[in-house]
Amino acid sequence: MNKHLLSIHDVSAEDIIRILDTADSFREVGTRVIKKVPALRGRTVVNLFYENSTRTRISFELAAKRLSADVINFSTSGSSVSKGESLKDTALTLQAMGADAVVIRHSSSGSPLQLTKWVRGSVLNAGDGTHEHPTQALLDLYTIREKIGRLEGVNAAIVGDVLHSRVARSLSFALVKMGANVTLIGPPTLIPATAPQWGVQVSYDIESVLPELDVCYMLRVQRERQRQQYFPSVREYSRLFGLTSERVGMLPEGALIMHPGPMNRGVEIDSDVADLPQAVIEEQVTNGIAVRMSLLYLLLGSGTPAEAAAESTTAEQPEQVTLPESAAPTSERKVEVSADA
Ligand code: CP
Repeated sequence: MNKHLLSIHDVSAEDIIRILDTADSFREVGTRVIKKVPALRGRTVVNLFYENSTRTRISFELAAKRLSADVINFSTSGSSVSKGESLKDTALTLQAMGADAVVIRHSSSGSPLQLTKWVRGSVLNAGDGTHEHPTQALLDLYTIREKIGRLEGVNAAIVGDVLHSRVARSLSFALVKMGANVTLIGPPTLIPATAPQWGVQVSYDIESVLPELDVCYMLRVQRERQRQQYFPSVREYSRLFGLTSERVGMLPEGALIMHPGPMNRGVEIDSDVADLPQAVIEEQVTNGIAVRMSLLYLLLGSGTPAEAAAESTTAEQPEQVTLPESAAPTSERKVEVSADA
């Protein structure tokens, strides 16, 4: 694994399997009464959010805390950013405080890459402008693999405002890397001209694609990023591209409906469709914690299995969790985890 996760291009197909398998091991932790293991005890994770977030920010915070890391949550309001402090000076301040990993969300594409020049720890991209959102793509792959049992050969459509969607970019790259077939669907104005170079198909007609799908992934219409009129009206957009109950009826049985959130109910997805059993939107959120635990562990956890085992001897009743062969970052393959901390 690379030291940083800035883009899906930073991980190979083998890395992705390792991340998902490791997440499998950690998901069980979230079902315990005490949802904690000592794998990152003594490490510091900083969540640096320059842009609003509900799911990603809370998910990274929970993931780091469940690994027993010290967590610092930084948001622009209430910080010296509101006094004009630059990203560089903020980064240098965090560096001086000993951050082992910085999770960054920023409205400017490329900010995470810039951050790697100023901090010594690992940088994880939690969404940068219209560039990428790699941890969202990985939790989506986890959910698809869990529900369908495979990634290779899966037929997936990503529907909507692809042009402004960092999720669509990361998910397309990730699905193609894992051998899935991806079709981007939306109005021509919201499909990037470069999309065919991503290894995907493009369609402007949702109803012709729905009967072939294993996964129908709906995107939010990102009106805050749109600087011009890309479609005549929201009503027209919903009529042509929204996922209605009638269109759900065109999907094969067992097809998944996915959405990264936040949703515009009644715009890209009807409210009753979002609540159907085949809509796995809440499961995506739950799986996000395990996938982010996996990433933090794999990026920061060198030597950790043995250390965790040693540390857990202070606990009353350490439990044994076996990480998959491919997951352990050292030759150690067993991690003793405690229910304390
Ligand atoms: N999916 C996603 O990134 O949601 P948030 O903006 O709430 O983090």
